[in-house]
Formats: sequence, structure tokens, C-alpha cells
Amino acid sequence: MSQTDAKITVILRIARSEGRWTEHRVEVPEGSYVIDAIERVFAQPASQLIWRHACHHASCGTCGLRINGVEKLPCITPLSDYDLTRPIRLEPLDYFPRVGDLVVDFTPFFERMQAIGMPIICADETAPPSHPALAHGEQLLRFENCIECGLCISACPAMRNGRFLGPAALAAAERLMVEPRGVDVEAVRRAVDTWDGIWGCRSSYQCTAVCPMGVDPAGAIIRLRTYL
Ligand code: FES
Repeated sequence: MSQTDAKITVILRIARSEGRWTEHRVEVPEGSYVIDAIERVFAQPASQLIWRHACHHASCGTCGLRINGVEKLPCITPLSDYDLTRPIRLEPLDYFPRVGDLVVDFTPFFERMQAIGMPIICADETAPPSHPALAHGEQLLRFENCIECGLCISACPAMRNGRFLGPAALAAAERLMVEPRGVDVEAVRRAVDTWDGIWGCRSSYQCTAVCPMGVDPAGAIIRLRTYL
């Protein structure tokens, strides 16, 4: 048997709708990712698994879930990260309404983006930075790296306050302060300078820890606080 033909056995323990858990034993090629094992389960009609994904390469942001309690994109999470003698636990993202099994409704994410007036548009890569934090040559981590996967919201302890704007929207707000691109900066300031905005953040840095794209929402919130 060649190296590429070698198979590994994976046990997935999946949180299903109505509080059920189901366990599935599947075989995947060595070197596979968590998404490959989920696909094996999904391919079994009897599993009736409700699950969402698209790109397979950390671009669409749709596959996010909690793997053994930690927010991850299964499409870029190798199975070799886990002890495969034990079941791998899969749960939907926290703080979002559940649609079914591993799928959540992203409406709260986009409502928060709208609350700070974030236009989802391409940046002018040549625009000169104007933010005070950049005056000392600080590297600008572009918010456009955000793939809207929602991992930061699920990981954030401050989201227990259901009105909290959350890390993604606050990072977007900081981005607008840096480069307004026609947005009313005063309106953004009013939206975020509140207890449900930047002052509701508990500085746990969980958002930055789980962000798969290096957006660093916690850093953006700290800069916003300094700025305001
Ligand atoms: S499938 Fe697109 S981000 Fe994972």
C-alpha cells in the first residue's frame, strides 16, 4: 500500500438538532482534514446531516463550527491535530440561532455590520492611511481579510450580552475610521462608543485567537478605544 492509499479511522460525535448527539465512524485518507470526515458522514443518506460548506479553502467562510469546543474552519483543520483514538466533538457556532444540526442563521452577523454602516466593498489598495495608530509605521491588517465566518462572534464571551456589537463589526468600524470611503465617521463613532460597543468588550482576545485570517479584531477594538 502506498503512502497516499493509507487510511485512518475517525470517530465524529455530532451535536444534532433537538439536543441529540450522533456518533459516526468513517475512514478517510491519511493527511485529510476535518471537512473530509464530515463529508463522509454527509454522504451517508441515513445520517441526514444538516451542514454547510462551499470552497474547501478558507475563502467562503460558511463551514465554521466548534471542534472539541474551539471555533475552527474544518476545511483548514487537519485531523492530525487530534487524538483519533477519541471521538472528535462537532457543534454549531455559539450565539447564532440554529437552523439545524451544524448550520446557524447568520442574520445577527449582518445586522451588526449594518449597525455600523459597513459597506462590503473592495478597498482602494493605494489609499494613504490616515489613522493615528498608523503614524508610527504600524502594519495595517486589512479588514477585507475577514471572510465573515463568524468564529470570532462564537468565541467571544461578551456576546452573552445579546446587544453587544461583537468583534467582527467592531473591527469593521475600526477599519472605517482608518479609511472611511464615504461613510459618515461620526455616525460610526456614535454606534461604537457605547457599552454595547467597544466598552462592552472584555478583552479576552478569544476573537483574535480563533480568527483564521489574522484580522485581529481584539487589536482593532483596543485601537478604537485609544482613538475614542
Ligand atoms: S468551506 Fe469555505 S471556508 Fe471552509
